[in-house]
Amino acid sequence: MISRRDWNVPELRIDIDSDTYLRTLAERDALPLFALTDQNRLYLRKWLPWVDATQSVEDTVAFIQSTWTQHANNEGFSCGVWYKHQLAGTIGYHSVNWSDRRVEIGYWLAAPFQGQGIMTRACRAMVEYAFDTLQLRKIEIRCAVGNHRSCAIPQRLGFKPERLIRQAEWLYDHFVDLTVYGMLVHEWRQLV
Ligand SMILES: CC(C)(COP(=O)(O)OP(=O)(O)OC[C@H]1O[C@@H](n2cnc3c(N)ncnc32)[C@H](O)[C@@H]1OP(=O)(O)O)[C@@H](O)C(=O)NCCC(=O)NCCS
Repeated sequence: MISRRDWNVPELRIDIDSDTYLRTLAERDALPLFALTDQNRLYLRKWLPWVDATQSVEDTVAFIQSTWTQHANNEGFSCGVWYKHQLAGTIGYHSVNWSDRRVEIGYWLAAPFQGQGIMTRACRAMVEYAFDTLQLRKIEIRCAVGNHRSCAIPQRLGFKPERLIRQAEWLYDHFVDLTVYGMLVHEWRQLV
């Protein structure tokens, strides 16, 4: 397999607490990440549109390589989320809009890792990195209406619901409406 070195992107690690860290994905993560997706297929496909297209470890390799391309193009990056030495899910920036200094964050956790605040902490770390290191000024999180666990994350972090986009995403056999939550840098500074 082609390695990350061929993309010339550095490994990035963000420590959250003694149990939890984020790290950009590497070739050695392909098998565990595919296994995690495969084991959580039914649960993940309820809200994520790419699950059925992930049928083999090669599909996960292609995803990991796409994260390196994104990183190499200075468009943001994606990370695995590790909790107690186990890969628990992923979190990432969608393509950074540098002219507006804005980015969107997306995430998922495998079912057994829910309910412990892991993703809220991961999201807080990615928000801080975006404001402090990338010097962005706005972060958005889009959650399907009805995906209460996902909506609770931006709500818990103090994001404001800004707008509803009707029929914004096709999920296998139906459209879902999305709520866009937003956080501005000065609002974040007042919260922390
Ligand atoms: C969305 C998703 C990541 C949310 O997972 P989650 O476990 O609810 O989120 P967190 O890891 O932040 O945990 C929050 C839960 O831990 C609890 N918790 C425990 N300790 C906590 C802490 N220190 N800080 C915050 N929450 C804590 C919270 O009370 C909450 O539990 P509750 O919902 O029973 O009240 C997960 O459901 C998922 O991946 N779903 C499938 C894919 C998906 O929907 N992705 C998002 C698409 S937009």
